[in-house]
Amino acid sequence: MRALAAKVAAAVLVLLLVGVVAVLGKAWWDSRLPGTYSVMDYGTPEYGGGAEGAWHAHGGHGADGVSVADLRGPAGPPDARFVLTARHATIRLASGRAVDALTFDGRSPGPELRVRHGDLVEVTLANEDVDEGVTIHWHGVDVPNGEDGVAGVTQDAVLPGERHVYRFRAEQVGTFWYHTHQVSSKEVRRGLFGAFVIEPRDAPPEGLDLTVVAHTFDGVPTLNGNDSAGRERVPAGTPVRLRLVNTDSAEQRLTVTGTPFRVLAIDGTDLHEPGELENVGLLVPAGGRFDVGFTMPRGGARVGIEGTDAAIGLGPSRGPVPAEIAPTEDFDPLSYGTPAPTPFGTTSDFDRRFQLTITRKPGFFDGLPGLQWAINGHIYPDVPTFVVDEGDLVQVTIRNDSKGIHPMHLHGHHLLVVSRDDVPASGSPWWSDTLNVRPGESYVVAFRADNPGLWMDHCHNLKHAADGLTMHVAYIGVSTPFEVGAAHHNTPE
Ligand code: C2O
Ligand code: CU
Repeated sequence: MRALAAKVAAAVLVLLLVGVVAVLGKAWWDSRLPGTYSVMDYGTPEYGGGAEGAWHAHGGHGADGVSVADLRGPAGPPDARFVLTARHATIRLASGRAVDALTFDGRSPGPELRVRHGDLVEVTLANEDVDEGVTIHWHGVDVPNGEDGVAGVTQDAVLPGERHVYRFRAEQVGTFWYHTHQVSSKEVRRGLFGAFVIEPRDAPPEGLDLTVVAHTFDGVPTLNGNDSAGRERVPAGTPVRLRLVNTDSAEQRLTVTGTPFRVLAIDGTDLHEPGELENVGLLVPAGGRFDVGFTMPRGGARVGIEGTDAAIGLGPSRGPVPAEIAPTEDFDPLSYGTPAPTPFGTTSDFDRRFQLTITRKPGFFDGLPGLQWAINGHIYPDVPTFVVDEGDLVQVTIRNDSKGIHPMHLHGHHLLVVSRDDVPASGSPWWSDTLNVRPGESYVVAFRADNPGLWMDHCHNLKHAADGLTMHVAYIGVSTPFEVGAAHHNTPE
C-alpha cells in the first residue's frame, strides 16, 4: 500500500514538473519575436469605450483605408531645405577627450536646424557609412505620420549609400529636436541627434537665443558637445532665451545661477504668465525641452548640468561667472503660471479613456528570461494598442508602478496634463510630448486624435523602450506596409 502511494506521489510530481517545464517552454517559445514582423500583427487592441473598427486592414488598404506610406507632407517648393549626412566621426570634446561617435555632418549635436513658423521644410537624409541604417524622427513636431521617421513603422531604415527625403510644414513654434529612430537606443546615445527650432514668423528672436543641448558621451556630461565651461559674451540688459534640450536617456538637472528666470515653454509650447524663479532646479526629462528666459544681469549668469563642469557662462565681460548655487527645490509645472483657455476642457466628454500602467514582472522578452517591463500586465509584444478614430478626444491615465522613471513619449500629438496623483493642474496649460512619470506617480492626460497614423508611444529612456516599454496608438483604417526586420533590418528601438 505504502509503496503504491509513494509511486503515485512520484508520478504526480513528475507530471507537475513536466507541466511546469511545458508551460515555461511555451512562454519562452511564444515570446520570441520573428526576424520580420508587422507591428500590426501584435498588440491587443483596446478601444477605450469608443467605437471599434479594424485598424489593421492588412495587406494594404480597403476602400476607406489609408497607408502610412501615403500620409506624407505637402508637395511644392520648400521654404527651408537641409541635407543631413549620417557618418562615423571622431569628435573632440573641449577637454581634448576623443569620442568615437555617430554623427550628422561630422558633428554631435548635429547642425541646429532653424526654420520659421509656416515654412515648408525639406530635409534630405543621406547615410554615408552607418551600417545598421539611420532614420530621422522629429521629436515633438507633430508631422504627418509618413514623415515620422520610425524604421519598420513609417519607413525603411536608410542604409549606407541610400537617401530619404522628409517634408512637412512647421505648424508649431518652439524647441524640438531630431534623432535617428533606427536602433535608437544605441545610435542616439552615440550622437545621431540635433536641435530643431521653429521661430515665430513675425517676431524673430531678439537678444540672445541660444539652444543648449545636454548629452552624455561615453559617460561624460556635455552641453552643446562641450564637457567644460564655455563662454558667451552678452551685454547687460540683453533679453536671453535658453532652449534646454535633454537628449540623454535619463533626466538631467540643469541649473541657472546669477539671475532670476522664467520657464517660458515646455516641450515646444509657451507657458501662460510664467512666474519668476530663483535657485530652482530644472529637471529636464529624457527627450524633454524647457525654454528659460531672463534679462542679462551685469554680474553674469551661468547655466550648467548640476554638479558638473558642463556649463556655459554668460556675461558682459570676460570676468568670472557666478559659481553654481545648488537649487533648494525643483521646478514643478503642475502649478506654474496661470490658467488660460485650451481647445478642449480637461473635464470634457472623452470619446475614449485608456489606462497605461507600467510594472515589472518576471517573464520572457524575445526569448530571454528576466524581470521585464509590462504595460497593463503584459510584456511586449502583447502590450495594448490604443485604437482611436480621427476627431476623438482621448484621455489616458498613465501610472508608474515600477521603481524606474519613465519619460513617456507619444509621437504625433501633444498631451494636455489634467492631473497628477489626483491633484488637478492649476497653473498654465501644460502641454507635453515627453512626460516624466516617476515611481508611484499617476498622470491623467488628454489629447485630440487629429493626426491619423500608426504612432509610437514609448518610454524615452531608450534602453527601456528597447527592452519592451513600447506600444502604439493606431487610428482606425490606417495600416503600414513597413515591417520590423525585413530587408532593411528595421529596428526602431
Ligand atoms: Cu524621441 Cu520615439 O522618440
Ligand atoms: Cu522607462
